[in-house]
Amino acid sequence: MTGGQDLPIGPARARGPAARADSRADSRTALAAPEAGKPDPQPIAWIGDPSQPPQRGQWGRPDQLSLPLDDRGLTLADGLFETVLVEQGQPRLLDAHLERWHRSAALLGMEVPPSRQRLEPLIAAALERCQAGGRALDGALRLNWSRGSAPARGIDLPAEGEPPLLHRFWLQFTPLQPSFRPVTTWISQLERRLGASVLSQCKTFAYGQAIQARREARSAGAEEALLLGTGGELCCGATANLLLLIDGTWLTPPLASGCLPGVMRGRALELGLVREATLDPGLLLQPINDSINDPTNDPTNDPTKTSFSAALLLNSLGCRPIRAVNGQAVGAAGQPAGDPGWASALAESFWRSLLA
Ligand SMILES: Cc1ncc(COP(=O)(O)O)c(C=O)c1O
Repeated sequence: MTGGQDLPIGPARARGPAARADSRADSRTALAAPEAGKPDPQPIAWIGDPSQPPQRGQWGRPDQLSLPLDDRGLTLADGLFETVLVEQGQPRLLDAHLERWHRSAALLGMEVPPSRQRLEPLIAAALERCQAGGRALDGALRLNWSRGSAPARGIDLPAEGEPPLLHRFWLQFTPLQPSFRPVTTWISQLERRLGASVLSQCKTFAYGQAIQARREARSAGAEEALLLGTGGELCCGATANLLLLIDGTWLTPPLASGCLPGVMRGRALELGLVREATLDPGLLLQPINDSINDPTNDPTNDPTKTSFSAALLLNSLGCRPIRAVNGQAVGAAGQPAGDPGWASALAESFWRSLLA
């Protein structure tokens, strides 16, 4: 590892002059607006050394820290991560994220990821180091858990009786604001989520499929990809769960479609705001009409009889109304198609209700 500071967890050191906002930041999100006379908050990272006690590690900018080249997270995408919303300096729904992280690690036969108790001082130190002028920060906290350095090449895991792999943990905090901006979408014809795979239930490092689906969407003139399951049913967005409002009920594809058990999706189910339903992609391709107000419609399985009145892409960092699918504008009945103000307000209020 180069350029980082080999430090235990502790109070922030004075940091150099703030650079310009990170130009690689996701274009869907904006860095927190700088306040006059205060430096821009910058991303900060910490990486542990698996051969040392858990609290030993290095702080640095993400582009200053590095992984050993034999790390299985790097070479095989053999790792898990969580993206946790931080609002006003507070991680939100952390327990739910840790629950998914730990459950996924068990499913994949990995060691148990760090506990909340171990994480809390690190998170506090990351936010303190990132703080600009005492401001409470909003942003994305990424927790990473790799299966660690491999003693030999190839994919094999240690056999019975061989020493276990020393898993590696690192985190990164990136200041940003949640996004509620409407998005144009394209249903991927090349990539499908696999409901039968245990990997679909885990937030692994492997985002190649999402990258390709978004690439396909961009070349079709849309901003974001929607993915189907292998049965051809609606599944999710490239990095978000999908929700459709039909006859006043929010519906979301079941996990059997291959979608990730998103923390926000889970919260919406838990609060009774959403129910699971297998959804035909034809629903998204129909123009909005007044049949959505007909209470005799069965919204779940007859795409010729009904259509949706709003569609959202939901994740921990925001909620984006879908304003077009495959080049066709969509919007809510009674609202101008794709009215960005109305749709963004709906998305934001839905998303905030999950954090309440
Ligand atoms: C494929 C996919 N589905 C769903 C989600 C939403 O998950 P969460 O609500 O836990 O942020 C994400 C988040 O990154 C994702 O990548």
